[in-house]
Amino acid sequence: MKIPPVKGTRDFYPPQMAVRNWIIDGWKRVSRRNGFEEYDGPIFEYLKMYQVKSGDEIVEQLFNMTDRGGRDLAIRPEITPTLARMVNQQINSLARPIKWFSVPRLCRAERPQKGRLREFFQWNIDIIGVDSVLADAEVIFATVDFLREVGLGPSDVKVKISSRKLLGVFLSGIGVGQEKLDGIYAVLDKKGKLPADTFEELLKEQVPDKDAAGKILDFMRVDSIPEVEKLIEADSNERIAWNEVKNVLAYLEMMGVGEYCVYDPSIVRGLAYYTGIVFEVHDIVGELRAICGGGRYDNLLKDFGGPMVSATGMGMGDCVLEILLREKSLLGDSISTREIEYFVAFADNVFGSHVYRLAGELRRRGFSASFSYKPESGLSKQLKEASAQNAKKCVIIGQEFLEGRKLVIKDMGTSEQEVVGYDDFLVSLERGG
Ligand code: HAM
Repeated sequence: MKIPPVKGTRDFYPPQMAVRNWIIDGWKRVSRRNGFEEYDGPIFEYLKMYQVKSGDEIVEQLFNMTDRGGRDLAIRPEITPTLARMVNQQINSLARPIKWFSVPRLCRAERPQKGRLREFFQWNIDIIGVDSVLADAEVIFATVDFLREVGLGPSDVKVKISSRKLLGVFLSGIGVGQEKLDGIYAVLDKKGKLPADTFEELLKEQVPDKDAAGKILDFMRVDSIPEVEKLIEADSNERIAWNEVKNVLAYLEMMGVGEYCVYDPSIVRGLAYYTGIVFEVHDIVGELRAICGGGRYDNLLKDFGGPMVSATGMGMGDCVLEILLREKSLLGDSISTREIEYFVAFADNVFGSHVYRLAGELRRRGFSASFSYKPESGLSKQLKEASAQNAKKCVIIGQEFLEGRKLVIKDMGTSEQEVVGYDDFLVSLERGG
């Protein structure tokens, strides 16, 4: 009986695993150079964790189960609720600002499509305990820092920045009640993702008044900063929220990534907990789903029973990113699955014991070393095996060894060979190979 992999999951054979590690190593390196510390939590939590404030969309996509003790649990679809729970647990002893990152494996029962799977990896960076939009700018900067490092420039991707606060104030201004906001945000977030008529139907359910719905759509279209300036009154709550957006853009300009960033009022975000600056990164062509998304969530810690502590962060999945990197030929074929520094080959069976001894010596000194399991196969076959294993150098034990304890070192890149004494070779390894 052949059992296929589960829909929406991936098998990571060594070549795919090498790509996954390459991406994750980059995320971790960039997190560290931006001053974030790594954390992780459990892969499942109580189901109610995600029912508190993540929003209906995520709840509908949960993989949940009841354990043997009758507890309702869910596999994590995101790590932000776990982060809020963990920080709340130690809120009095953690030095602020808390700058943490994580790369959790997440599961969402989404309809699998290009860039969206049921199991994926997501880079998270979050700053907790900072009210200033400087923290929002830092999160966006670190995001761009990674994208820039892997070769994605401002002509490949755009960071679209907006504000839930600004939209919230605007909606209240046209008479939308506070209790309706979460429902409207969820619909507005789907604007670019649904066919126009389906979107309009959904919006009508939330905002039956045609005039009000029209005003909302107009608001989401004006993305020119001078135009917005003209529309926003001085000394209003809208002005306060708008100034935050302008400040974030100004900080990002100062940090040298202004070219990547634009104001885009159509960014709303699907999750319910956002309260301020929100952003998403999209490919310029706009064919793919968001590469990443995040924003400020100042009430989440309080919603989980902690004190009122402000927070901001983002999540970037590996799927869309990988598609884009492949499209732009930025992954290359050079990500190797194995790195062998020395392949120890032998010209004749009689040298077998020396091969195993030398391989052992090399590994003891921290070098990666390999040898053939088929000593009878002959030298040329072993050299082929060395190439197939991507070995940098081949150490050949042959006639020279019998005559004067000498080894032939062959550089597999240039094919150059040199003869060195066995002991000199070991000494050279001590000096770093
Ligand atoms: P999110 O928008 O739900 O936000 O997800 C962020 C990113 O995760 C997406 O832009 C996408 O790259 C990736 N992603 C989401 N769902 C899938 C999927 N089914 N398959 C592949 N990739 C996916 C959050 O999760 C927030 N918790 C992020 C955050 C952290 N906000 C503040 N801190």
